[in-house]
Amino acid sequence: MEKILVIGAAGQIGSELTLALRNTYGNSNVYATDIKQAPKDVVESGPFQILDVMDDKRLIHFIIANKITQIYHLAAVLSGNAEKLPLQAWDINMRSILSILDICKEVGVKKLFWPSSIAVFGRTTPKVNTPQLTITEPNTVYGISKLAGERWCEYYFNRYNVDVRSIRYPGLISYKTEAGGGTTDYAVEIYYEAIKKGCYECFLQEDATLPMLFMPDAIEGTLQLMEADASKIKIRSSYNLSGISFNPDEIADSIKKHIPEFTISYKPDFRQKIAESWPQSIDDSIARAEWGWKHKYDLDSMTAVMLKEIKKKLISNKHLVNHG
Ligand SMILES: NC(=O)c1ccc[n+]([C@@H]2O[C@H](COP(=O)([O-])OP(=O)(O)OC[C@H]3O[C@@H](n4cnc5c(N)ncnc54)[C@H](O)[C@@H]3O)[C@@H](O)[C@H]2O)c1
Repeated sequence: MEKILVIGAAGQIGSELTLALRNTYGNSNVYATDIKQAPKDVVESGPFQILDVMDDKRLIHFIIANKITQIYHLAAVLSGNAEKLPLQAWDINMRSILSILDICKEVGVKKLFWPSSIAVFGRTTPKVNTPQLTITEPNTVYGISKLAGERWCEYYFNRYNVDVRSIRYPGLISYKTEAGGGTTDYAVEIYYEAIKKGCYECFLQEDATLPMLFMPDAIEGTLQLMEADASKIKIRSSYNLSGISFNPDEIADSIKKHIPEFTISYKPDFRQKIAESWPQSIDDSIARAEWGWKHKYDLDSMTAVMLKEIKKKLISNKHLVNHG
């Protein structure tokens, strides 16, 4: 029987991935952990514990005591936040993946998932339809840590046979949990502000096209990669994965189809520079061919779900506040 540990389960991806894993493997077999309290549905549907991934001793004890067979390591400092505290971000992002790779090797954990990012690419990378194998010269501390992490994953697979699998996620868009300090967070915030205020001031320029993916597709792809037969997983650094590419102007147009009076204004900050160093679209043909990846949502179908679900969420929050 699989016993799964999710590290970073209170985050944007972890909170949804934990629930999806519990659906597949049974609630009591998926252990959610984080340094902060997780959303109610994560805490109430199965085991949740506060656990700092940097505390190696407690982590290894937890893994052995609970006979963990698979780890999803999602804890990280994201691109925007990492630029504010580069050395701290490097320490957290690198030390955690290295210690988990080593624990997997020593304890014999069967499978490890660790997400990389399109941040491994840089200014010198071809921007359109960026290939799997291409120039990777990231110039953000987040991107450098993800690239180094990819190299270590491949190393532990080649040298110690650790079955580690990884995806270079593009910007992920979801309505359940707030975004965690990344450069693509605008594409989540914009929907909330459209509903609450009818306008949004964007921290990227109107033509900042970036690759994105709707969370249900990202979760589906992650589970598919982890369930695939090991022989199909030829890339042990990290797979390119892509869904939709759009810029702030295009997402605003998509929102206007539902809220015609919606307006967007632009006040680019330091994240614009980060966005400029990333690809505009990604070639993910290898993931599609090797383990059957495909996405379902385009920009308009994602917008329809985002607006509907955020409206529901805001109404129910208001209802809770009004009723004490
Ligand atoms: N969200 C995206 O658009 C995106 C894109 C590419 C890659 N990724 C990667 O996916 C992973 C998850 O991203 P996310 O968007 O869910 O981020 P997030 O910031 O929402 O979640 C990360 C979680 O890790 C937890 N965490 C931080 N330090 C910890 C520690 N020391 N011990 C235990 N938990 C700790 C945080 O409390 C948080 O809940 C990260 O590795 C990130 O780099 C995300």
